[in-house]
Amino acid sequence: MEISEQQAAEALLRWYAEMGVDEAVGPAPADLYAWQNSSTDIKKPVPAPKDTATPITPIFQAEEAAPAAEEAIATARKIAASCGSFEALRDAVAEFDGCPLKAGAKQTVFADGVPGSDLIVIGEAPGREEDRTGKPFVGRAGQLLDRMLAAIGRSRTQDTLISNVIYWRPPGNRTPTQDETAICRPFVEKLIELTEPKVIVLAGGAPLQALLDISGIMRARGVWRELELESGARFPVMPIFHPAFLLRQPANKRLAWADLQTIEARLTKG
Ligand code: URA
Repeated sequence: MEISEQQAAEALLRWYAEMGVDEAVGPAPADLYAWQNSSTDIKKPVPAPKDTATPITPIFQAEEAAPAAEEAIATARKIAASCGSFEALRDAVAEFDGCPLKAGAKQTVFADGVPGSDLIVIGEAPGREEDRTGKPFVGRAGQLLDRMLAAIGRSRTQDTLISNVIYWRPPGNRTPTQDETAICRPFVEKLIELTEPKVIVLAGGAPLQALLDISGIMRARGVWRELELESGARFPVMPIFHPAFLLRQPANKRLAWADLQTIEARLTKG
């Protein structure tokens, strides 16, 4: 039996949906303006460039390649070093074009809460809600984070700063690449330097890997570590479970609660 192109396309979409592919995005941001789409001129997917770390082929490729990661990191370092305040850093991150994720995000998600707080919570990257609102941790995981903070008498409206190791939503919420993390890192370090927190909480395995180069949140959580910045400044760090993980595995809230108690004790100690 012959089937029409439309029927074939519908069958393919149904199959994608059954396989859990529910977003038309690739791992690299797509510049759809550069993709000349017409019913008679549908371009073939462009294969991933040879040097990409990710094995998945992007659906479309942006017209201009992002600046090489090395160059972007150097630029980020220079810009971050010139920022003398939270506001200057926030504006500089919003203007920075060196991270390829920016092209696929609706907006920059820098931080929320009180600058200069003695507690800073650092997560992974904005998701859909964060990308929509421009604020970190506002989706379901963010609401749980707020409740976790409230349990130790903390809140982002009074005495806590919340941010991420990545400032732009990765396509389809994929894990950020090492290059993307490295490009954002000078800004993350500067935010920590300007905040001078008494405690840094790393929410989940991604910031643990990105900032301390440690993998395995299951074993690392609940144990104090030290983060040494490029400037030489050192800060106490506590890795905890990511609230999104706790939503999926609520039995682990017991351990998260113990970690929160440890954090509170350190914050309230003289
Ligand atoms: N998860 C994160 O790690 N960060 C956010 O901002 C939201 C969800």
